[in-house]
Amino acid sequence: MQIGNLTFEPGAVLAPMAGFTDAACRRLAAQHGSLYTISEMVSAKALTFGDKKSAQLIYNGENPAPYGVQLFGADPETMGQATALIQKYAFDFIDINMGCPAPKINASGAGSKLMLDPKNCGDIVAAVVKENNGKPITVKMRAGWDGDHITAVEVAKACEAAGAALVAVHGRTREQMYQPGTVDWKVIAAVKKAVKIPVLGNGDIESAEDAKAMMDATGCDSVMVGRAALGDPWIFEQIRAVVNGRPMPEKPTLRQRMQAMRSQIYDMCEEKGEWAAMPQARSQALYYMRGLKGAAALRRACCELSHFEDVDRLIEKVYEAGNG
Ligand SMILES: Cc1cc2nc3c(=O)[nH]c(=O)nc-3n(C[C@H](O)[C@H](O)[C@H](O)COP(=O)(O)O)c2cc1C
Repeated sequence: MQIGNLTFEPGAVLAPMAGFTDAACRRLAAQHGSLYTISEMVSAKALTFGDKKSAQLIYNGENPAPYGVQLFGADPETMGQATALIQKYAFDFIDINMGCPAPKINASGAGSKLMLDPKNCGDIVAAVVKENNGKPITVKMRAGWDGDHITAVEVAKACEAAGAALVAVHGRTREQMYQPGTVDWKVIAAVKKAVKIPVLGNGDIESAEDAKAMMDATGCDSVMVGRAALGDPWIFEQIRAVVNGRPMPEKPTLRQRMQAMRSQIYDMCEEKGEWAAMPQARSQALYYMRGLKGAAALRRACCELSHFEDVDRLIEKVYEAGNG
């Protein structure tokens, strides 16, 4: 699979998730085999207003994998201006958000609202290509807006014609939000058939077997994994092994899981300061507790994390609850 000059074996990519996939989360995913990583979504408009928080979202730090900055916006001109403004940062490509279902974002015409206007999608890609100094552009989209507007094929074709190097398709409409059991593999297969650029399939992948099944059924080149990768970065090496016919790596031990959580939260504190990091660390820690004994008490302990030292107390509680 190729994005510009970047070459990848088939595998999985960490899906961008606002509030979760910060630099620490992306680093861990990349260390465990995510083919590349993408920033949380960044507002093109806010960038043109000189917003400081946007610059923090773009920061990537040390990371062994290629890195894309995800921009959202509805207006080609603003998207082009934002692209020019971020050229001073270190990144490998730009990803354009055409999938966010949040009402506030859609009200401005951005995110999944763009799925109703394939021509504007093409114009946005063209405007970003023009200002991106030859670096590739990728697009992340949904199946469409609702059951009456399944537009992924038209949007993917418009993006490809305008110069996009890859499209990722979350197989749900905006109307379906994140409803379980609604990911439509047929839309992903139709997009794969309609374009020559690589296609990533996305939605509800929870294991290496799920990833292989989606790739086999849709022909997509790789998959994108979101929620299942939180608290479980090992899913990337497992998917890479299985889809490339290599033996499945050993499951991580509890000790490895706890070490990964501790080091991820340590990096978050180093990079954002404890005050900003710890509220987000609570939600990350909850994911590391999945499947453990004493879940209710452990969830409570996660919600009480306020200082980095509390992470060690949480780990003690995990062992005291009879895990390991
Ligand atoms: C909390 C949360 C935040 C998200 N933020 C973004 C985002 O910033 N940009 C984006 O393109 N998609 C975003 N998504 C969508 C995910 O990238 C992904 O498409 C979706 O979760 C489906 O994949 P999954 O079933 O593997 O989680 C977000 C999803 C969640 C649950």
